[in-house]
Amino acid sequence: MKIKSKIKDYSLEFINDVFKKKKEILAPFKNERFFYFIDSNVHRIYRPKIKRFIGNSCFLVIPATERNKSYMKIADYYRKLIENDFKKNSTLVTFGGGILQDISGFIASTFHRGIKWIFFPTTLLAQADSCIGSKTSINFDDAKNKIGTFYPPDYIFSDPGFCKTLSAKYFNSGLGEIIKFHLMSNMKRYGLLKKYLNCSSLRENPYFKEVVKSTLEIKYSYFKGDEFDSGRRNLLNYGHCFGHALESASNFAICHGEAVMVGMGFANLLSLKRGLMKKDKYNEFEDIFRKYYPRFDISKISTKDIIYYLKRDKKRTGKDLTMILSQDIGKQFKFDNVKEREILQVHKDFINRYPK
Ligand SMILES: NC(=O)c1ccc[n+]([C@@H]2O[C@H](COP(=O)([O-])OP(=O)(O)OC[C@H]3O[C@@H](n4cnc5c(N)ncnc54)[C@H](O)[C@@H]3O)[C@@H](O)[C@H]2O)c1
Repeated sequence: MKIKSKIKDYSLEFINDVFKKKKEILAPFKNERFFYFIDSNVHRIYRPKIKRFIGNSCFLVIPATERNKSYMKIADYYRKLIENDFKKNSTLVTFGGGILQDISGFIASTFHRGIKWIFFPTTLLAQADSCIGSKTSINFDDAKNKIGTFYPPDYIFSDPGFCKTLSAKYFNSGLGEIIKFHLMSNMKRYGLLKKYLNCSSLRENPYFKEVVKSTLEIKYSYFKGDEFDSGRRNLLNYGHCFGHALESASNFAICHGEAVMVGMGFANLLSLKRGLMKKDKYNEFEDIFRKYYPRFDISKISTKDIIYYLKRDKKRTGKDLTMILSQDIGKQFKFDNVKEREILQVHKDFINRYPK
């Protein structure tokens, strides 16, 4: 995949067994100095292979926590680069999911005002969604993704094999975004999603690669003319308004893509109550979500907390709350007129319907 960007064009290549293809992958970067940022679980699981791949290059092993993705921690990573004489013409290489991507992307965009960056996404969410689109975000105190830049990697090498070692929770998280993108596309792609979801194993089946590629193509179609997120790209926040509030209110017990799935269920219920979505559509989509909703007692999250976080939503511009609502496949709309009392009613009903 070739992706056009106002910052720099970049490419994404699917490669099986990346560790066996070191020569092939790194050949174009013959005389480069690399510094590796590696997710600690990826490092633990793939240690001998990683060791062979990185050779004598400097590296930093970073646990993928929201705390490590904070403004306060970022200073430690800059310090390591400076201590190791990392220069403007050196290249940062990342193995990890969305957290390592956000840390690396922010650093790559700011260190010497921009350095080269190669990304090996290792989670389903990073492979199917976050690796493209140029966003980098870090946290400030308890404010998630408050600070950021737009800066894509120069090269993305995506190996589906990494998903085999992902926990069920994080596999489901990626699935949440995959489902969201296909609900935002067209009947043909929705058909592909359904074929994929009908397979007995979601990690290894004939549609896996196809559905990941399709997700990236849908995402690209949304940000192509709106890389800096001032128009159509905003719609990709379908499921994110309530989802982000839920992630924060649950203190991240529910991870990103899972929260998006719950958020889509919430947005659809509000759409149903407003008469935007028909009952049969609501039931059809809800049947999909219910298979993957996290087993979490959502009645533990108070409506007061949800409203608190919805009010802090960065998409909110007016006095009321902002949400992306849905009518059907590929028909999502932004509403800036959602009242607190609507959220109160829908939240109550949603808790009653949510699988126990
Ligand atoms: N920049 C963007 O465009 C963007 C988009 C969406 C989400 N995000 C951010 O991404 C983060 C979530 O990222 P994520 O869902 O990819 O997960 P993650 O990076 O938080 O990783 C999830 C867990 O999986 C482990 N892991 C990673 N790869 C593995 C592998 N191959 N095998 C076994 N374990 C592995 C990690 O160590 C971690 O415990 C959030 O902070 C979110 O805000 C960024």
